[in-house]
Amino acid sequence: MFEHIERVPGDAILGLIEAFKKDTNPRKVDLGVGVYRDAHGNTPVLKSVKAAEERLLEQEETKSYIGSHGDPAYGNAILSLVLGEGSPLLTDKRASATQSPGGTGALRLAADFIRTNLPGKAIWMSNPTWPNHHGIFDAAGIERHSYPYVSASNTLDFDGMMDSLGRIPEGDIVLLHACCHNPSGFDLDKQQWQQVLNVVKQRNLMPLIDFAYQGFGDGLDEDAYGVRLLAEQLDEVIITSSCSKNFGLYRERTGCLILVAKNEEQMNNVRSQVAIVARENYSNPPSHGAAVVSTILGDEALRGMWLEEVDDMRGRINQLRSGFVDAMAPHGLAEKFDFIKQQRGMFSYTGLSRDQVERLRNDYSIYMVSSGRANVAGLSSDVLEYVAQAIADVSDT
Ligand code: LMR
Repeated sequence: MFEHIERVPGDAILGLIEAFKKDTNPRKVDLGVGVYRDAHGNTPVLKSVKAAEERLLEQEETKSYIGSHGDPAYGNAILSLVLGEGSPLLTDKRASATQSPGGTGALRLAADFIRTNLPGKAIWMSNPTWPNHHGIFDAAGIERHSYPYVSASNTLDFDGMMDSLGRIPEGDIVLLHACCHNPSGFDLDKQQWQQVLNVVKQRNLMPLIDFAYQGFGDGLDEDAYGVRLLAEQLDEVIITSSCSKNFGLYRERTGCLILVAKNEEQMNNVRSQVAIVARENYSNPPSHGAAVVSTILGDEALRGMWLEEVDDMRGRINQLRSGFVDAMAPHGLAEKFDFIKQQRGMFSYTGLSRDQVERLRNDYSIYMVSSGRANVAGLSSDVLEYVAQAIADVSDT
C-alpha cells in the first residue's frame, strides 16, 4: 500500500541543521535555524532555567496528566507576561490561556479552533512569513491568502500591507507578527500598529498574533505593544505565544494559546472548545518547560535572573547587527546593509538572492535560508570578518 508514496523534500529550515552538521569545513557558520547562540556558537541552557529545574527535581511530586489547558500557574504567568501585569483583560476575566507544545502547537490549536468554530473564514498572512505558517493552516484545511509586507527593494511595504488589509473580506482572519518579524526582521512602529487596529476594526477582521520572540526586539513590554493595543481595543483576539526563544526552551515545546473574548461567559465558551481541540490533537500538553517557566516567573530572584538573561541575549543580537554593518565598511558595503541595524529580532532579510545564498553555502560553508534570511544570533565577533568578506565576494556577481 506504500508503493505510490513519493519522497518529499524535508523542511527547508530544519534541513539546514543536518546539512550544517555534516559540513566538515572548520570555518563553517550557521545562520540558518532560529536559535540563539552565544559568543562561542553554543545555545546554552539559561541559568534561571537550570536553577528552576533543580527546584523541580526536588519538589515535583507527580507525572500524572496536567489537563488539556495545562497548569493554571503557567497560564496566568503567560497572560501577565503577554497582556501586561494588571491588564484590564485579566481583571475582567476576558482572556483564556491554554498551555501548548511550543508556539507551533499553539498555532495548530488556533488553526483547528478556527476551522471548527469559524467555518469558512480564510486567513491572510504577510508575504513573506514563516514558511510553517503555510503548512499549519493548510493542514487544518483553512483557505490561505497573503498581503504584501516586504517591497522589491527590501523595505517594509506598509502601504502595500494597508491597501491589502483594507480589502480583506469582513470577518476573515489576519495573521500578524507581534515583533521580530520572521523572516524579514521588519517590525511595525506604534503609529503603524494604530493604523492596523483601525483597519481591523473597520473590516471587522479577527487578528491572530504570533508572538514567538517576546523580549528579543526592544524589550519584554515594548515588544508587546501591538498585542496589548489590539487586545485592549478589540472584543476578540487570538494570540500564540512561545517560550522557545526567550526562555531558551526550544526542545521542551513550551507555548500558549491565548483567546481574548468579549466577556467572561464568551471566554469560557471558546475556552471549552479549545480543550476539545487540544484533546483531539495530543490530549494533554508536555509539562516540564511550562513548570520551569512558572517557577521562574513566580519567584522574584529567578525572575530577576531571567530578565537579565533576556536583556543580555537581546543586547548581543543588537550589537551583532551593528558589528555586521561595521564589518561591511571595508568592502564599501556599510551603507547598502545599513538597514540591518533597523531590523529587529534574530532574523534579517539580507536581500541576498537564492544564488548568492547557495554560493555562500557551497564556497564558504555559510548557511542561511534560501530566501536570504540570516539568523543574526549565529554571528560572533570571530566570524564577522569572514562572513563580511564572503558576502562582499558574492555581492560582486
Ligand atoms: C525558525 O524560523 O528558524 C524558527 O522559528 C525555528 C523553526 O521551527 O522554524
